[in-house]
Amino acid sequence: MKVIVLGGDGFCGWPTSIHLSHLGHEVTIADNLSRRNIDNELGVNSLTPITPIQTRIAAWKEISGRQIGFRFLDVARDYDGLLQLLKDQEPDALVHFAKLPSAPYSMKSGRHKRYTVDNNLNATHNLLCAVVESGLDVHVVHLGSMGVYGYGGTGVKIPEGYLSVRASDGQGGWVEREILHPTNPGSIYHLTKTHDQLFFAYYNKNDGLRITDLHQGIVWGTNIPETLRDERLINRFDYDGDYGTVLNRLLMQAAVGHPLTVYGTGGQTRAFIHIQDTVRCIALALNNPPANGDRVSIFNQMTETHRIRDLAKMVAELTGAQITHLPNPRIEAEENELFAENKHLLALGLEPIRLSTALMQEVTQIALRYRARCDVSKIPATSRWRQDNHAQSRGVEASQGLVSGGKRPV
Ligand SMILES: NC(=O)c1ccc[n+]([C@@H]2O[C@H](COP(=O)([O-])OP(=O)(O)OC[C@H]3O[C@@H](n4cnc5c(N)ncnc54)[C@H](O)[C@@H]3O)[C@@H](O)[C@H]2O)c1
Repeated sequence: MKVIVLGGDGFCGWPTSIHLSHLGHEVTIADNLSRRNIDNELGVNSLTPITPIQTRIAAWKEISGRQIGFRFLDVARDYDGLLQLLKDQEPDALVHFAKLPSAPYSMKSGRHKRYTVDNNLNATHNLLCAVVESGLDVHVVHLGSMGVYGYGGTGVKIPEGYLSVRASDGQGGWVEREILHPTNPGSIYHLTKTHDQLFFAYYNKNDGLRITDLHQGIVWGTNIPETLRDERLINRFDYDGDYGTVLNRLLMQAAVGHPLTVYGTGGQTRAFIHIQDTVRCIALALNNPPANGDRVSIFNQMTETHRIRDLAKMVAELTGAQITHLPNPRIEAEENELFAENKHLLALGLEPIRLSTALMQEVTQIALRYRARCDVSKIPATSRWRQDNHAQSRGVEASQGLVSGGKRPV
């Protein structure tokens, strides 16, 4: 299959690209390398020593004999370039990762909010519009987020995208329908993900586009078997307060002897998936496209749920690290339940990697191995969801000595 991976230089995009190439697909990456520029803006580096995209691709060719194409392209701004890429490649499928994916980054300031909205909405809309204008029959696979459902804890098991409802017809009878599950975004980034759903529903209805929207949980882990074949292929690992996903942050904190920082009570429940399962799910989605005329396929791409304080406890038990609770910079429920369906991808053959079996590997192979590259000053969260909880949280971090880092390694 010919596949274009938009955002193929990123944390999920790079392992997906080489996994698909390993499976025999013909892969072209399109990326504007904005993620690398954001590292420069924030003054941080991936904990793992990632190489430039050109080096990654050359190393993969050397090791596997397979060629991955690369086009430097801003999907949100260069519509003509995107359309030309489609015409040149005539792909069977597009995998869409080209987004600003960090909730804290999207909340940093007015500029960051506006950038997130401009980038994410235009990227998705340009892509859909270009597929229609190209006249090609392309299966679009998008990486969405479980965050679109929100974490309100409604007591309802979250279905895969569509909710069955029963409403009065106003004449004493009832009408039954399946509707898109109501959204409840918790950040500007998540807000853009909720808009994506409407773009997909519209282009599916109006133009018959075949679309799979994967509502992904928080990704943990770093490598897949293909990225382990040579250090030049290594995937990125973010541990900083803006981009580090919660489990990776906790692992890194343990490795450098920093207390494990849990926001609020840590009673927030979130959905998780290992990066190896992410790439497998995408391969499964590509092999099982919706038929012409089908509505948008929505799968919940997550394999387990945990409360944040339980994750911290798990990491503390593995490593001997201490746990500290900080004021929550986010505006969110202190405690929530999260029950979600994920039967579609399991039915397609996904066999999940569990936290309980693979967590220690991540501590030793990544966090401990590369801890000398960690800049502990980048660990604290600096984004605040509202300016009025800013001063309070920073003050607590400073008074607890958390900004300079601890001493006791794991
Ligand atoms: N990482 C997670 O835990 C997670 C969880 C749920 C969903 N997702 C979704 O998966 C997707 C990828 O996330 P990620 O963690 O790999 O992010 P990332 O920032 O590491 O990767 C995104 C890539 O897209 C590129 N990009 C961004 N805007 C672009 C544009 N306008 N044109 C071209 N390229 C552009 C970036 O340079 C980067 O290489 C996102 O849509 C995100 O919402 C990620």
